Order: sequence, then C-alpha cells, then structure tokens
Amino acid sequence: MARERRRHTGTEHRPLPLPRKATPPERDWTRVLLVALVSCAIGVSAFAYSGYMRWSLALRVLTLHPSPRVWPPNSSSSALSPNMFWGSYRPQLYFGMKTRSPHSVVTGLMWLSQAGAPSLRHTCEQGDGLARYGWLLHDGENFGVQEITDRGFTLRTEFVKRPGGDHGGDWSWRIRASPQASSSPGQILSLMFYVATDGQGTLTPHVAGRRHLTHVTGESEELGPFTLRFLTAEGGDGHVSYNYLSTTCPGLHTLTDVVRTSLRDHFTHPTESGGSRGNKRRYFGLDSYHPPPLPPGTPAPPPHTQLVVHQLTLQLPFQAEVLFESGSFQQRPGQLSGVSLGTELDRHKTNMENRFQSIFRLEEKGFTPDQVAFAQAALSNMLGGMGYFYGSSVVKSPHNAEPVLYPAAPLYTAVPSRSFFPRGFLWDEGFHLLLIGRWNPSLAWQSLGHWLDLMNADGWIPREQILGSEARSKVPDEFVIQKSENANPPTLFLALRQLLANTEGDEALRRAWPRLQTWYDWYNSTQAGLLPHTYRWRGRDQDPLRFLNPKTLTSGLDDYPRASHPSEEERHVDLRCWMALASQVMADIAERLEEDGGRYRHDHNILTDNALLDHHHWSERLGAYADYGNHTQNTALEWVRPRAAPGQDPRSVPPPQLIRVVRKPPRLQYVGALGYVSLFPFLLQVLDPSAPHLGRLLDLIRDADKLWTPYGIRSLSKGSPLYLQRNTEHDAPYWRGPIWINMNYLTVRALYLYSQMEGPHRDRLVSLYRELRQNLLANLYRQYKNTGFLWEQYNDQTGQGQGCFPFTGWSSLLVLIMAEEY
Ligand SMILES: *[C@@H]1O[C@H](CO)[C@@H](O)[C@H](O)[C@H]1NC(C)=O
Ligand SMILES: *[C@@H]1O[C@H](CO)[C@@H](O)[C@H](O)[C@H]1NC(C)=O
Ligand SMILES: *[C@@H]1O[C@H](CO)[C@@H](O)[C@H](O)[C@H]1NC(C)=O
Repeated sequence: MARERRRHTGTEHRPLPLPRKATPPERDWTRVLLVALVSCAIGVSAFAYSGYMRWSLALRVLTLHPSPRVWPPNSSSSALSPNMFWGSYRPQLYFGMKTRSPHSVVTGLMWLSQAGAPSLRHTCEQGDGLARYGWLLHDGENFGVQEITDRGFTLRTEFVKRPGGDHGGDWSWRIRASPQASSSPGQILSLMFYVATDGQGTLTPHVAGRRHLTHVTGESEELGPFTLRFLTAEGGDGHVSYNYLSTTCPGLHTLTDVVRTSLRDHFTHPTESGGSRGNKRRYFGLDSYHPPPLPPGTPAPPPHTQLVVHQLTLQLPFQAEVLFESGSFQQRPGQLSGVSLGTELDRHKTNMENRFQSIFRLEEKGFTPDQVAFAQAALSNMLGGMGYFYGSSVVKSPHNAEPVLYPAAPLYTAVPSRSFFPRGFLWDEGFHLLLIGRWNPSLAWQSLGHWLDLMNADGWIPREQILGSEARSKVPDEFVIQKSENANPPTLFLALRQLLANTEGDEALRRAWPRLQTWYDWYNSTQAGLLPHTYRWRGRDQDPLRFLNPKTLTSGLDDYPRASHPSEEERHVDLRCWMALASQVMADIAERLEEDGGRYRHDHNILTDNALLDHHHWSERLGAYADYGNHTQNTALEWVRPRAAPGQDPRSVPPPQLIRVVRKPPRLQYVGALGYVSLFPFLLQVLDPSAPHLGRLLDLIRDADKLWTPYGIRSLSKGSPLYLQRNTEHDAPYWRGPIWINMNYLTVRALYLYSQMEGPHRDRLVSLYRELRQNLLANLYRQYKNTGFLWEQYNDQTGQGQGCFPFTGWSSLLVLIMAEEY
C-alpha cells in the first residue's frame, strides 16, 4: 500500500481530463513511412528518423505483450465460465452484483434511515461510521451472507446463484432489516434496489399504481432478456410505501448523486406509532431527477447509463427479496424465493463450512467455534472483496510528454480494502492469492492470469489498477498516473510457488510462461544495481527538501527509511531477496514445463550465495542486513521562515515551511535502519539455516527494544532514528513502527520453515514461532471483537487497529497462520 493513498476521500472527486488515445501502432505504419519518405525527399531524413524513434518509443509503453493471453477475453464469458459470470464483483459497494464482462448491467442496494438526518448508504465509506460490516460467509462462487450494523438497525444481505440457461443463470437476494435492542420502536427505513446499464442494454420499468415498481424487464448483449422482480416485503407493520425512479445519467460513478438529488421529503408513510400527525410520517422518497444545470454553452453529456430504482419504506423489522431471472433459463424449478431460497442458502452454508473445516482444520488445532467463525469471516471478506474491473490505466513512460491511456483490459482481482482501496494492487495481490489459492486454486489462477495479461511488451505491469469510471472516481488525479519505470515487489511469485504444489493450473502456467520470462527480465534489467547481482528500486522521491527520508513507494514499504540521498550507488536488500525468490520459482516452473531454466537456476545460485549476500548487505555495526547507499543519519525536519526583504510588505512573505535539513553530509555506507527490510534474507529463505547471522536476526526479532511487541513484529526498531517519525508535515509514520500483517505472516512462516530444517537454532525457532503466532492471533481476534473490523496495520504500543478499515486484504492471512499453512 502506498501512503499517499491514505489521504483519499471517496466522496468528492473531480473527473480526470482523459488523455487522448494514442494511435495504435499497427494502423499508422503507412502514414509513418509516408512521412519518412517525404521527409527523406526534402532532405531532413535524420530529423524524421529521430521523430519516428520518439514516436515509436512513446507508443512502446502501450504495446501489450505479444504472447497469447493467459485468459482470452471470452474466458470469463457466460458461455465458458457460467458459474462465475454473476458475482459480488463490485467490492466498493456495501452490496451489489455485476457480471464478469466489460460493460456489465449492474445491480445494487442503497438504504436510507428515515430517523434523524437522512443518510444515504451505497459505496463503502469510512465516514459512514458503520459499527461493522462484512461477509460472514462467502465462498467466492455461489453465495454470500453479510451483516451490516448501521445506527439503530442491522441489515443482513444474502445472495445465492442458481445456474441455468446460457447467460449465467439466476440469482436471488434476501435482505433482513432488524432494529437493535437500543433503538426506539417504530423506526422506519427505506431500501433502494437498483439496476443500471453501463453503455449498452435496455431496461423497462413495470409500475403498479402510482409508484410501485414491481419488476424490471431488460436485455443486454451478455445477458439476453431478463427480469428483475421485487417481491412484496414481509414484516413492517403491514404498511409499505413505494417510490421509484427511472432516469438516465452520465455513468455508474454518478449513481449515488443521482439518487441523492432525486429524494424529496413530502411523502408520508402510514404507521401505527407514527407521531402526532394522524399516524402519518413524512419521509424522503424518490421523486424525479433533474440533472444539475450546466454552464451555458456546455453540451449535455450523453446518457451513458439507464438507471431504475425501486424504493420501499417500512417499519423495522422486515425482510425483502429480489429475484433475477435469466430469459434463457427455460426449465426453472420454481421461483428461488421464500422457503426454497432459504433452503438453497442453507445448503451452500453447510457446504462451505464443511469445506472450510476440511481445508483449514481449525477445530483440530483447538480453536473455539467463535474463533472459527472469525477465520471464516476473514476468508469470506477476501473472497467477497474480489472484483471484476474493466478499463484503461493512465500511464506515462520517460518517452511520453503527457500521460496516455493504456489499452483497455479486464482485471479479476481481490482488493486490499473495500472502503479505501477498492481496486487492484500488484504486490498486495501476491499475498491475497496465498489465501485464495488455498481455498480455490482456480480463482487464484484466474486472478494471476489477469494480472499477467496486463503486461506490456517490455514486461511492465502497472502496479495500481484504476480501471473504469467507478474506480477512477475514488482516486485523486495526481495518483492516477502509473509510471513505466516503477516496479512493485513481484509477490505473484510467492503465490505461484504455492500454486505449483498441485497440477490444476498447468495449462494456464504454460500460457503464462512467456510472460513470466519477460516479467523476470524486466525486473532483472530495469531494477539492476551498479554492481552485478545487486538491485535498486527505481522511482524514489527526488525532492531533497521535502521529505525527512525520500519515500520508496515502489518497494511497497513506502516511507520505510532508505538511503537519505537517492543515488545510483544504492542497493536494496529486499529487492535482491524478491529476485532470489523469483529466480527459484522461474527455475522450478521451467522444470515443470520441461523448458530450459538454466539461467534462472544460475541466478538463484548467485542470489542465495550467503557470502555474496553478506558482502553486499551485511552491516556488522547494525548487526543486521541493510540497504547500502549515500546516507546520513543526521537529518531533521525544521520550520524555516522566509525573511522579508528590506522594504517588502511582511504580509507578502510566504508562510513558514517544514523542510529537511542535513546536519552531517551523507556518504556511501549501510543504511542504519533496523526493521522489516533487515529481515528479508530470513523472510524469503535466502539465508542458510546454519548461517552465523541467523542467530543475530532472531535476537533482533525477540528484542522488545527493537522489533518485538506483544502484538506482532513492528516495522521499524524502537531504536531507529526514524522510528515513528513523520516524513513531512502531513505524512504520519506509516512503515516506521506499526505492525503489518503481511510481513508478520512472512515472519511466522520463516520461523516455521527454518524450525523444520537442521540447524543450530531449532529450539529457539520453535519457541519464537509459537510465541509470535500466539501474539498475532490473540491481538487480531481481540481487535476484531472490539472494533468489528480487520485493520490495515496495528499500533505497536497498544495493539489497536489503525489506518484504514475494513482491510481484509493481506490482514486476512491470519487464516493461514491459524491453520499453520505456510
Ligand atoms: C475463446 O477465444 C479464444 C482466443 O481468442 C479462441 O481460440 C477460442 O476458440 C474461444 N473459445 C470459445 C468457446 O469461443
Ligand atoms: C540477470 O542479470 C544478470 C546481471 O546482469 C545476468 O548475469 C543474468 O544472466 C540475468 N538473468 C537472466 C535470467 O537473464
Ligand atoms: C551524496 O550526496 C551528496 C549530496 O547530494 C552529494 O554531494 C554527493 O556527491 C553524493 N555522494 C555520492 C558518492 O553519490
């Protein structure tokens, strides 16, 4: 995760002025040749040639890898993958579904409490202040059960799919709304179910009486004809009020605004306990949508999206069902509603619980039913957080004067956080797939292949995937652009290593092979250090005055201290270890596919040569592995107040600025930071089990003045100069102390793996393993019980969850720690 993204708020956004699409290379060959010829003729061929070179270099970043895709576009279609066609692939919503297709018809739920100030809920927002929400069960394929605790009431949102026909089958939703014990009686609540198109397809609302939308019929390319039925709600006190909206709007990213601005409060709901005015209560209902006035002369945006919303308003408690029925599903064995819906949900719940038990065996390890439910929820949120996105990244290479649009592509991926990071992140995904792959290797392969299919001809994969208007509306412009020099840890190799353990993905693996080779070469060449077999992250912050320590977002560890003065001489020990892992997995894959993997084996032998590793990265003074570079420990942030020039109006002097001052000049040396980076040769098993330095690393881990806490391993030693230091006035410490679960997973796993090998530290490894595992699990469980969420990171002094929430990406690796699956 990158620090800068923490500041994003999901509510406001400015649409990014889209760069114009660069001309695809193949089409313009003739024009180029013609231009070149003409230029030749007039004697400026040298100029034309350099122009052509610039042009072709500028397009190179957009040229996709030439080998056949791991997953061709039709692989997610309803024809080839019918059971996975529909899903909760809109993780940024509290509840919604779409299909795995580029311009899917989407469905979703909004709700509006009619008590107090109305607050409309739709996309997951931390600012909504929900006490908890998340999937209790979700198998990634057939069904899901979620519980949402809002102020005064609880929603249980369930869905189940039923295969049949040629278009991905049917599904049903059941929403149960119940008052909390503390809430005042007679509270009324509105649910709004909607269906919307994304540029193609048509919807026809069917309305009974004045405002009661009973069903919507529709048709789209991928779905054929279909019907969405809103069954009569049960419960309330017998009164239901209806409203509906049918309108068009510029796109899916505007849905919340359209609904919010279509609400009027002149409707009344009859209720037994409804206050003073003749048992009627005013409520906010959908009326009609009037687009905001445009500045004069601006053409109205074309109606990209058709939106139909069904609103029902009634008193708690109640239950409502929504049915999607596919037109091509001929022999439907009755409606999937009421009792049969309940039966179907129960069947899937039992299946999931049994499968969970047989894969993870938590009962055998002594966990209580409540702890098992916690683990099931963690897995379910990882699976329920999987999305299907489609669109173009905005990218820039050193050869582009302006950002350009990457070719549009699909991405099926898990997301780190449904509220804060509801999109794909390259290095997070490698961790996600460790858990997903244990549950269902096929899902992991699908995600992995989609990621590799985003690779360009050079072997670069944009690390943050902001695809489509909904995703883009959540990210401020300045963070949208992906730079083609920038890497991110190749954690997909972690996932690949695990997936190699069974043969299920062999065909995908064969298709992936040419891409993996290019990918490896890209890291090996573009991120190489000055000395052979050393590596350096590109893309560090350059501004020498702004940051206490220039960040290295590309490493994934953001503000973790590195050399104070970025330079070519730098070498990064974490990247070297990632490459050691990558070379090993490449060699293993080559063997599996009976390809020549000699180059990778050779790299691996060198990168795991402990003498060479020590030579490049062991700092005796630090007693740990370290980065090397142009560095000084003596930097600080100081307020600098510009002085008014003689005669200058003091009010025109710029305000004081917090800037970095360097008190002692930097020199080439090991970087004096003790923390996660120091452990990498151990975390990724580059270190020999009998290496003399292993004992020193274990000392560092177990030392409470350094990395050890009762809640897990902290990211930076308490004794490090930058421990819990801000990087700028606005950047709180991120990887400078807090406890992160992905790194703790790697630590527990390394302790476990080394404890299984012959070596002088076995007893110590075993006891450290037990202790760290116990500490982590106890705290994660305690925090979940107290706060309702898994968190992005945990405070190293108190164990409290902090950063964004829910964070059910790599924090969900706790399931593997419970199961001792490494
Ligand atoms: C899916 O697409 C691939 C490549 O584009 C093609 O070879 C294959 O025949 C298609 N399969 C089906 C069932 O349409
Ligand atoms: C990686 O780079 C090193 C150093 O440049 C080179 O010797 C090695 O052959 C490369 N590895 C592969 C697999 O190409
Ligand atoms: C280290 O950084 C300082 C300050 O930017 C610079 O003057 C010096 O040349 C650098 N030294 C090396 C070896 O890069």
